[in-house]
Amino acid sequence: MIKGDSDEYELLTEAVKSSYKLKTDDYYLTCEIGVREGLGSKIIMDEMQTKNHGTPHHVGIDPYGDIKYRHFDKEHDFIEHPKTDYTNLMKLRLKKDLIDYPNFHLMEMTDQEYMDKYRNGFTIYDGKPKLLDKYTVVHFDGPHTTVEILREVLFFCDRSHVGTTFCFDDYKLYKMDLIDQVCYEHGFRPIKKGKQRYVIRKEYD
Ligand SMILES: C[S@@+](CC[C@H](N)C(=O)[O-])C[C@H]1O[C@@H](n2cnc3c(N)ncnc32)[C@H](O)[C@@H]1O
Repeated sequence: MIKGDSDEYELLTEAVKSSYKLKTDDYYLTCEIGVREGLGSKIIMDEMQTKNHGTPHHVGIDPYGDIKYRHFDKEHDFIEHPKTDYTNLMKLRLKKDLIDYPNFHLMEMTDQEYMDKYRNGFTIYDGKPKLLDKYTVVHFDGPHTTVEILREVLFFCDRSHVGTTFCFDDYKLYKMDLIDQVCYEHGFRPIKKGKQRYVIRKEYD
């Protein structure tokens, strides 16, 4: 069974349920930053199956590899993550567990590398190449420092549409008010604030 490491996954389900696209362009693109064992990605993909205006594609971004990284804003919350279980063995298990999801695209890289490499969009090949460049749902669950999430948010705000939802995990650990303001300027408004997760949706262009 795929396990998660957090609570309030029902708010992630709600984020997917309440997302929509005004314009049908044959596809939905969703994304999770920080995949771990894959529960978040699985929830997003399962819920997207219920939408019927295009083929859902899901990008999971995670470097795994047991690397050290700064985890939280606060210094006393350990500067570098001492020992994680985000290993390459976990990645292998994840690939096996999600084998039945052909439109799951695992990007084995950091958020920053993804944003550099795929700034023009993500191409899928099915008969002909198709560029997917607008995200309908994004789950922010990788790095948990304000500066890194701000960078991610700026990237995905520019690649969103009316109806896009963002779900933030552990939002109390970073400066969510600041991130909220940036998203507000991009037309996002709050949908649901839980103890652990926060969901917003783009209402205006
Ligand atoms: C909190 S876990 C994700 C939990 C998962 N979303 C779930 O619902 O079960 C954080 C993940 O972020 C990944 N991660 C760490 N640094 C990252 C980065 N710079 N970019 C993307 N993912 C990163 C870790 O490897 C780890 O798998």
